[in-house]
Amino acid sequence: MGGNLPDIPERLTNLRGGFKAFLSPPPEGVIRLTVGEPGFDTPTNISEVAKKALLDGDTHYTRGEGRENLCTAWASHLRRRWKIPVDDEGIVITPGAKQALLYAFMVAAKENDEVILLAPCWPTHAEQVELMGAKPIFVQCDAPRFHPNLDRVRAAITEKTTAIVVNSPNNPTGAVYTPDEMIGIVKLAIEHDLWIISDEIYTELIWNETEHVSPASILGGFERTLTVSGPSKTHAMTGWRIGVFAAPTSVAKVVGRLQGNTCSHIPSFLMPAAELAAKDWSAVNQFRGEYIRRRGLILELLEHIPSLVASEPEGAFYVMVDVRGTGMDGTTFAQRAMDEALVQVIPLDSLPGGEGYIRLSYATEEDVIREGIGRLKDWLAQ
Ligand SMILES: Cc1ncc(COP(=O)(O)O)c(C=O)c1O
Repeated sequence: MGGNLPDIPERLTNLRGGFKAFLSPPPEGVIRLTVGEPGFDTPTNISEVAKKALLDGDTHYTRGEGRENLCTAWASHLRRRWKIPVDDEGIVITPGAKQALLYAFMVAAKENDEVILLAPCWPTHAEQVELMGAKPIFVQCDAPRFHPNLDRVRAAITEKTTAIVVNSPNNPTGAVYTPDEMIGIVKLAIEHDLWIISDEIYTELIWNETEHVSPASILGGFERTLTVSGPSKTHAMTGWRIGVFAAPTSVAKVVGRLQGNTCSHIPSFLMPAAELAAKDWSAVNQFRGEYIRRRGLILELLEHIPSLVASEPEGAFYVMVDVRGTGMDGTTFAQRAMDEALVQVIPLDSLPGGEGYIRLSYATEEDVIREGIGRLKDWLAQ
């Protein structure tokens, strides 16, 4: 009896938890400036639709990509709002944007391929590249704006490169790439025959004058872009696990079969609610006003802490803060802030390009932001 466990592939045992270690609920009394989700509840009209569907018995197997009405609603939204020329059959509704990203990496990268990531980037992008047996190639975006340098991107392309990942507005940097930068990326992708994986989960959350331009809306871009979207951040639906994969129909058909052979589909009774989310963006406008206030508040409070340098976020709900002026690296800062100031923040030292930085989320309530930054200020003044 007993003995050693049979082997687990290294690709799996090597997976890291991203920000997970710093996202676990802290002891009582600790202020959390970590969580990347809206400090709001899902709009009631959306929840009511799901509740009714559940009670009406919408609990059976259905179309793997998502019901036709649901896919049509998201395709119409992406066509109208972001000018992505996707067919209704080009949509697969997935369990969260994360799963849509996984499918995108399965399509765009295989063993030993290289995938370009604009650093610092959300850790899951790199983990999923590695899960494919491919290699993430980090191309640094410089502080304070963290926009891509296209010459550097070009220099990083090799014959093994198969894809480039774009995430604008960006987590964790808050950068919103300009239309010219997006056009430049699409041109490079065409020149080198690359896929573009465009993570557009924050596109409704832009705080400057920049117009979001989807790579798939640019001439020659649609054929090579796998767009990832969904209502998690915009409709405060993070726990629902609903995401959107949008691509040329031939690719979506492959992904539809992939989903059909794995999770089948998102829960049937969530589909009418996911359809309503694609049609009703009214709550987002209210959330947007709140975020603008919270962003202003956190930047103003941080300005009064001389040893911290905050980058002005152009979108999403995160602010990158350079903590090197305190004499600490990001990890030491985060550990000590937790132990001594009772404030939970995310250190970015482990991300290429994030060394010396922490990430604060301002998605949370104003009084939490005030208390958290106040505690950091008092602690650092000691
Ligand atoms: C850049 C980015 N993409 C995707 C996601 C995941 O979205 P979902 O909750 O729909 O899986 C997140 C969540 O933090 C994110 O920051």
